[in-house]
Amino acid sequence: MSTHILTVDLGERSYPIIIGRGLLSGGFDLARYMPGNHCLVVTNETVGPLYLEKLQGCLAGMTSRSLALPDGESFKTSATMQTIIDELVTDKAGRDATVVALGGGVVGDIAGFASACYMRGVAFVQVPTTLLAQVDSSVGGKTGVNHEGGKNLIGAFHQPNVVLIDTDTLSTLPDREFRAGLAEVIKYGAIVDIDFFAWLESNLQALLDRNPDELAYAIRRSCELKAAVVAEDERESGRRALLNFGHTFGHAIENTMGYGEWLHGEAVAAGMVLAAEMSGIDKSELRRLTALIESAGLPIKPPPAGAGRLREAMQLDKKVQANKLRFVLLHSLGDAFVTADYADEALGEVLQSADT
Ligand code: NAD
Ligand code: GLY
Repeated sequence: MSTHILTVDLGERSYPIIIGRGLLSGGFDLARYMPGNHCLVVTNETVGPLYLEKLQGCLAGMTSRSLALPDGESFKTSATMQTIIDELVTDKAGRDATVVALGGGVVGDIAGFASACYMRGVAFVQVPTTLLAQVDSSVGGKTGVNHEGGKNLIGAFHQPNVVLIDTDTLSTLPDREFRAGLAEVIKYGAIVDIDFFAWLESNLQALLDRNPDELAYAIRRSCELKAAVVAEDERESGRRALLNFGHTFGHAIENTMGYGEWLHGEAVAAGMVLAAEMSGIDKSELRRLTALIESAGLPIKPPPAGAGRLREAMQLDKKVQANKLRFVLLHSLGDAFVTADYADEALGEVLQSADT
């Protein structure tokens, strides 16, 4: 498999997404994407022992330090972010320092937010190691941490200088995490690319077997689709909201369960089925979506939380405007739209039916 380079086209803030096998062990020259000669690698206690040494082999000519965060969504907090800032201060890191995120979406979001805040913004490099981070969270510049009152409530847009995706890192990813990442891959097909959706239906088993060629294609296509949406609407004033398909329900599920109980991708998977039901799409299309999600080993229903609790949690969603929730719904598979103009009974029915 060869290396593929995509571009996130954002004018002077454009950056490459480099996708390939063995990039870390091959000593890929990451330093050339950094403005100065100093960087802080932020990882966690699980990923560090697996890949930190390899990553350090990509930093020839740089002075680098590293910081391993505790592992888990429950540590995606301002307090954890502060430990990164403390490290940068202790290290006397200057404006030309770079923060490198080595890990999944949690590390990427926290480290990215720290890089957005330190000295009002220093350079940032993403080296995502989960499928979810490779196809979604490392691309597009959303960074942040959770608040007790809701997920990702504190954050900033801060684009990386480069996203380096070594697909070999997925070999150590636990199965449950891998499947959770597939939820976001399925999302792209469902919202904007029916051909990709059909490709996923035909190639799901190869993906579940982590066949390198199919995996590389799924990651590349997902990144292409996300990059195109982000290039069109970096700050989510319109089209980018489509990427939140399943997330209004998904965040509510995560919130009512307590962060970390269900994985983000699992909550999004069940959320996509609810959103598709609420859309009232053709029954055969709903069956296709549900079947693909189920075959990927993902949940198609939320846990019995009580419709009322889910609804309450949904009010905290960042997409609430003038007390009205905004949903990403489907005209049909592969064709999503955002709306605040939905029938309240339709939402009630979907939540009630999820409870039974
Ligand atoms: P995660 O970062 O918690 O990683 C999942 C688990 O896998 C962790 O235990 C981690 O230590 C481990 N891990 C990571 N890479 C590994 C590897 N190669 N081998 C073995 N273990 C490995 O979870 P995630 O699913 O990557 O990310 C979820 C987070 O991403 C959520 O906080 C979500 O809000 C955020 N997110 C952000 C965006 C965005 O645009 N910024 C988009 C989607 C999700
Ligand atoms: N994951 C949604 C976004 O990046 O906009």
